[in-house]
Amino acid sequence: MKWKRITAAIISIICTVALTGCIAQRPTKQPQTVNPNDALIGISMPTKYLERWSRDGTNLEEKFRELGYHTTIQYADNSTDRQISQIQNMITQKVSALVIAPIDGTVLAPIVDQAYKQGIPVLAYDRLIEGTEGLGYYVSFDNQHVGELQGQFLVDALNLPNTSSTKHIELFGGSPDDPNAAKFFSGAWNKLKPYFESGALVSPSGKIPVSESDWKTIGILGWDSAKAQSEMQTRLNSFYNNNEALDAVLAPNDALALGISQALGGRGFKPGTGWPAITGQDADKANVKNLISGRQAMTVWKDTRALGDRAVKMVDQILRGQKVEISAGKEYDNGKKKVPTYLLEPKVVTKDNVQQTLIDSDFYTAEELGIK
Ligand code: BGC
Repeated sequence: MKWKRITAAIISIICTVALTGCIAQRPTKQPQTVNPNDALIGISMPTKYLERWSRDGTNLEEKFRELGYHTTIQYADNSTDRQISQIQNMITQKVSALVIAPIDGTVLAPIVDQAYKQGIPVLAYDRLIEGTEGLGYYVSFDNQHVGELQGQFLVDALNLPNTSSTKHIELFGGSPDDPNAAKFFSGAWNKLKPYFESGALVSPSGKIPVSESDWKTIGILGWDSAKAQSEMQTRLNSFYNNNEALDAVLAPNDALALGISQALGGRGFKPGTGWPAITGQDADKANVKNLISGRQAMTVWKDTRALGDRAVKMVDQILRGQKVEISAGKEYDNGKKKVPTYLLEPKVVTKDNVQQTLIDSDFYTAEELGIK
């Protein structure tokens, strides 16, 4: 008995030593307090060609510079290889921190691990980076809630709980390589699925996922507006030839909503009666104009200025060695670790609250939206 206890104690000491050794070998270099004037921040954005990312990039640079930081920014034209080599260059330039909005959430793990080993803290911006222990923090909007807002909007717009007629809807998913897109779909599907089950909702194209995890089958790669337009044209040409009504389209973001509304316009649909309720996200300028002209019913606005403020604050707190504020109880599992996360709340914008949301907050001027 005594020997058993001694053996257990020895094993426990060996394990502790091994474990401590293991932890000690892992790169734990947290930056010391850094003077902003001596620090270069690397910002890696997916593409300049979607309005929101160029706005995010400019905004981040401005906010970092206000605090005295230097910045280097790269847009990767939606090419994963380019994004990896751009981040590689930033590591070579010895940036003090990296802020990365990944194109593909699953392929950046090795480069993020490399940054981590060199003591460069990494913040995932808007989209999570998966499969790496090297990711320090994540800042985003509540993406599941974005989808719920879109789904609930359509439930209300079609008055589904109180109507006995069947409504026609077409569903679109975001880019299959974007981890946010799964969350957008999941949120929307939770709201819409009961009505598919009851028969209140039907998709004449039959393009509905057989399960929530099957959403990629209706995804539009690269969030490409032109691809969404041609997919909508195909569905209209194949399934809407006998004056079938189209009551709603679930579009997960504004780029797709734009392509879809162009396809509808091309097929002779006119805003007003007969034009479906189309959702969106980002409050891109062209789409806000479409809200006003009745071509889009809603968009989910994620104030990128607030996201930028928070990202800059988190990086500043990291580099100053301060406690980094995160949302209570919010950790996102990236497959390798639970990543401390700060989540902001998205808002629904319709033509009725464009003034109070987007104009009163100076996100856009009335002139920019063509309403003055
Ligand atoms: C972002 C959306 C954006 C989409 C396409 C998503 O990850 O959260 O705001 O519309 O990417 O760029």
